Amino acid sequence: AYPYPPKICCLGAGYVGGPTMAVMAKMCPDIKVTVTDLNERRIAAWNSSSLPIYEPGLQEVVEEARGRNLFFSTDIDAAIQECTIIFVSVATPTKTSGIGAGEAADLTYWELAARRIAAVCNASSNMSPKIIVEKSTVPVRTADAMAAVMAASCKGTDFQVLSNPEFLAEGTAIDDLFKPDRVLVGGPVTPQGHAAVQYLADVYRRWVPTEQVLTTNLWSAELTKLTANAFLAQRISSINSISALCEATGANVSEVAYAIGVDTRIGPKFLKASVGFGGSCFQKDILNLVYLCRQFGLPEVAEYWYQVIAMNDWQKKRFAINVVSSMFNTVSGKKITILGFAFKKDTGDTRETPAIDVCKMLFAEKASLAIYDPKVAREQIYSDLGKEVIDKIEIETDPYIACSGAHAICILTEWDEFKTLDYKRIYDQMQKPAFIFDGRNLINIAECQAIGFSVWSVGQSL
Ligand code: NAD
Ligand code: UGA
Repeated sequence: AYPYPPKICCLGAGYVGGPTMAVMAKMCPDIKVTVTDLNERRIAAWNSSSLPIYEPGLQEVVEEARGRNLFFSTDIDAAIQECTIIFVSVATPTKTSGIGAGEAADLTYWELAARRIAAVCNASSNMSPKIIVEKSTVPVRTADAMAAVMAASCKGTDFQVLSNPEFLAEGTAIDDLFKPDRVLVGGPVTPQGHAAVQYLADVYRRWVPTEQVLTTNLWSAELTKLTANAFLAQRISSINSISALCEATGANVSEVAYAIGVDTRIGPKFLKASVGFGGSCFQKDILNLVYLCRQFGLPEVAEYWYQVIAMNDWQKKRFAINVVSSMFNTVSGKKITILGFAFKKDTGDTRETPAIDVCKMLFAEKASLAIYDPKVAREQIYSDLGKEVIDKIEIETDPYIACSGAHAICILTEWDEFKTLDYKRIYDQMQKPAFIFDGRNLINIAECQAIGFSVWSVGQSL
């Protein structure tokens, strides 16, 4: 029997660990929730008034619960010792070297976390029961590895390993956590596994309707997460492939997307053509799926999913090629303004943002770049593009200054504020002919053309 109410901790105070635990603490005021991290600066930021990540609504949730039943700490061992439910929400990036480099998930942080939990349990002969919860996105059967590490090192502790993947999207994380489409809890098909699944599911049932709290076996839960991201990314690559055909034929991708999306079997979401998808997970999770398929002797399945990435790479490249060819095949020495650097609106996150690829391709063509993003810090842009380009980029905090004197503007993130910029004012301060390349289908094309802009917008034949 597990204690009631549970005490909960989380290893990893990142984009997932922080918001997920903050919402859990807000919704369950009687449950003590401790979020831990190895990174002292990150924890200090969580304990300050300027949180380490930007997410609409996050500040209010943290401020309501912090110090009441929500705590941020670097004392990982104390948290493991005290808590029954231990979430592991550490990063699982793509491996950069060794076997499976470029595809397989790097489980270094994950295993170190597992060993740390095992070591703390091993240090005491009468440790209370533990439920270790995979929150990170991991390859199928990773729970086996966690269980093996635990079983080998702490024979005295009663433990269960569950999979509870997270489906929040950045920029809408708080809404997604308050009203998730579903919560998924996978566990071993044993009486003990079932009891642990119910114990965790009961926490979520406090604010998520019971029918939306799904329970499965471990491997289904692990594979569902990779599959969900693969399907979402596949829709974007599919509509982006059609965007190229629209440009060639005179069809309009927004009209096509709308007209297919009203078919309830297809649905309207995730059909916005773009410069390509970014973010820390789509590419890494599909590569992970591809690697798993190869490992399990399914090369045809691997190839099928790999095309989602290949199409995305092509879309980013196609955008940059279009800029160069439209501008008379040379951008050398020309100022190009990048509006939006984050991988999507309402976040300051730049992991795998298409803006990095586009900027690098334009640098290779010797363009000079001015960048404006409402949420991305200057240092982040420098670190993403590399120290060697510092003197070739101008980073501005005002979009009008960023556009002044430019030959072209590239809209790479769908920030709402870009819809209401005074494009006449911008046009008047630009070199002529003035180009605008809209990678998000966000501007009013007719208005911009009437001002005098030469307009390119993804999936529109102009
Ligand atoms: P992140 O890099 O923002 O945060 C991970 C944190 O874990 C870091 O702060 C790091 O210092 C900490 N850490 C590493 N090892 C640790 C240890 N042993 N003990 C304590 N802390 C440790 O990563 P993230 O974006 O929050 O992603 C975490 C996981 O969630 C990944 O597997 C990712 O695929 C998955 N995921 C992410 C999102 C998203 O929107 N970012 C959504 C769903 C799932
Ligand atoms: C995505 C999933 O939506 C989440 O469910 C999942 O939990 C998460 O990955 C994860 O595992 O990390 P996220 O990457 O934060 O969330 O953001 P999305 O809204 O999915 O956008 C991803 C990228 O696709 C962005 O670059 C976005 O601009 C692009 N996109 C999205 C399009 O180009 N077109 C669309 O129609 C939708």
